[in-house]
Amino acid sequence: MLEDAVNFTIVLFGANSDLAVRKLYPSLYQLARWGHLPGAYRIIGVSRNDLSHKEYRLQVGEKIRSFSPGTIDDEVHFAAFSGRLFHVKVDLERIEGYYRLQKEIMDVAGEPGVCSHLLFYLSTPPALAPLIVRNLREAGLGGKGMSCTGWRKIIVEKPYGSDLKTAGELNTVIGSVFNEDQIFRIDHYLGKETVQNILVFRFSNGIFEPLWNRHHIAGVEITIAENFGIRDRGAFYEKAGLLRDIIQNHGLQLLASVAMEPPVDLSADAVRDEKAKVLRSIRLVTPETVDRSVVLGQYEGYRREKQVDPGSRTETFAAVRFLVDNWRWKGVPFLIRAGKSLAETVTEIVITFACPPQNFFGPAESCSYTANQVILRIQPEETIAIRFGVKRPGESVITDPVYMRFDYRDSFSQPGMTPYHRLLLDALDGNQMNFIRQDSVEYSWAIIDAIRNCMAGRMPDVYPAGSWGPPEAGGLKGAI
Ligand code: BG6
Repeated sequence: MLEDAVNFTIVLFGANSDLAVRKLYPSLYQLARWGHLPGAYRIIGVSRNDLSHKEYRLQVGEKIRSFSPGTIDDEVHFAAFSGRLFHVKVDLERIEGYYRLQKEIMDVAGEPGVCSHLLFYLSTPPALAPLIVRNLREAGLGGKGMSCTGWRKIIVEKPYGSDLKTAGELNTVIGSVFNEDQIFRIDHYLGKETVQNILVFRFSNGIFEPLWNRHHIAGVEITIAENFGIRDRGAFYEKAGLLRDIIQNHGLQLLASVAMEPPVDLSADAVRDEKAKVLRSIRLVTPETVDRSVVLGQYEGYRREKQVDPGSRTETFAAVRFLVDNWRWKGVPFLIRAGKSLAETVTEIVITFACPPQNFFGPAESCSYTANQVILRIQPEETIAIRFGVKRPGESVITDPVYMRFDYRDSFSQPGMTPYHRLLLDALDGNQMNFIRQDSVEYSWAIIDAIRNCMAGRMPDVYPAGSWGPPEAGGLKGAI
């Protein structure tokens, strides 16, 4: 339940979008079903379609049933939820629609607070965000200098801009209509239980933190792999590519969570200050270092995907070796590798510790066979493993690696909350800890822009679908 359970309205731009249909409606329905929403709330879907409220309600019901079967487990509850859905037709380029929206928002009788607390959710292509916020301001719906009481917030989906320049421009526009504490830049990875746990794992245990630095850690490897291609997102991928789709946000946020200093407290800004400092410390790739730091790939068959240029040079795989130039991490490689159409779907972070100074035991070649590791598996399994060496039973004294493993499923009953459940509740509650602040967005873009500039015009290495990407990526591991 929201801490301060005030009634509110969510205005969903992109009422028909894939995200709305697959994630937002099911999450909102479930939050209502589980009793997390207040007595009165409204969800106003905005699209260019001419739909009555009734038609929209039917449509949302159908979509939830077809995309998330089993979600609607109680028709009475669903009918109550459905009655809170409304639709407004808006041609995003024309101001009239926004005035209609304003009227619909204000048009509530006997439900205090519903029209004074507003959350705008932009589930729309990124390029439309400036237009929408300008028109919201024009229609008196902006967050800055509003005359009535109540809160106004805006959630903006990733990608936030497409490079440093556009992210800055976007912020100037949004920042002229909403204050920073009203802007929620969403990266759904930050709503994952196992990602939120990184902070807790690191800072609630005494045994790891003293070792969590360049003196004891040889390297960190972050993998975000998917065993499927770009599906029907050819048009988006051609513009984005994997560096912008995954590394700029999910990848660098994971890195920041592993590398950050302890925050002074658990306030949103204290945590985000530390993450921003890590991103700011990442050394930018240069033409001199790019070849030993970056491998880009494209899966075989990508050029035959729908809406993809047959001569496309877009990357669907990236492996990047980052260095974090600060006292804690100087010289420790952080490898992020992510890709589409790889051998497996898995996200994990492997922290490999330095070898003992002398290795007495076989196999003697290298200790990397048994080097201690902490393995944070983000998904699909939600586990933490610690690797260490033990004597292989038998006459010879040989070390073998073994694992001590914790699995969320064994220790906790699943609460069923997904990232969108959590982040919607956080946004309604006004908690920005797991939303990205503008400075972090910009540091991350600077990192990605540097890579993209150095790689401009190059054809990524083609790799077979179902493999682990171009073999050259293995060469980036270095000391890890
Ligand atoms: C999205 C990317 O942000 O994250 C997709 O745009 C990717 O390309 C997805 O597939 C992965 O998220 P999850 O939570 O399904 O691992």
